[in-house]
Amino acid sequence: MAMNPIILLFLLSLFTNVLEVEPAKPRLPGKSRLPNSHIIVMGFVYCDTCSNNSFTRHSYFLSGAEVKIDCIFKALSPKTDEQITLSVNRTTDKYGMYKLEIPSVDGVKCAEDPDVASSCLASLIWSPSSSCSVPGYRSTSNSISVKGKRDNICIYSLNPLSYRPSKKDITLCGS
Ligand SMILES: *[C@@H]1O[C@H](CO)[C@@H](O)[C@H](O)[C@H]1NC(C)=O
Ligand SMILES: *[C@@H]1O[C@H](CO)[C@@H](O)[C@H](O)[C@H]1NC(C)=O
Repeated sequence: MAMNPIILLFLLSLFTNVLEVEPAKPRLPGKSRLPNSHIIVMGFVYCDTCSNNSFTRHSYFLSGAEVKIDCIFKALSPKTDEQITLSVNRTTDKYGMYKLEIPSVDGVKCAEDPDVASSCLASLIWSPSSSCSVPGYRSTSNSISVKGKRDNICIYSLNPLSYRPSKKDITLCGS
């Protein structure tokens, strides 16, 4: 799906904020040498007002939408097939953003090729808006991963999810 440049800029500014706010966790001496990662999974929910299947000038971010996030993180541990799975529900904030933060994950080294090693899936559960409640993009697993300045921060940014109105507003959207 094509993303408009304004959203991309917005996303980038969020990453920057997130990266600056999160302090690096000092590694405890004497502990195992396995990496310890700080993982952030995030994405947006918007109302696709004119059912364009993309974010257009009539679209707006939906605050209060409920999203289910399922993740599998493969751990680089001596026990080779160890993995961590999670399933949580999150509600979007006033910017239409949902976020799952996992402060410390033992043995998961995100900075190295996280797409191959781990994956997350987000799905729509509930729309807060009665006028924009028909699921459009209802689930997403494609992620852009952004590596933080410090190796141990890893951000999974999922493609946006969307709802649309059940009836198109002809006045607003044209035919
Ligand atoms: C979105 O769809 C409407 C018709 O419903 C059309 O008039 C408009 O040009 C489309 N906008 C974009 C950005 O594709
Ligand atoms: C998330 O919400 C769904 C749908 O309401 C529910 O079935 C599920 O149990 C919830 N999961 C958690 C972890 O609360």
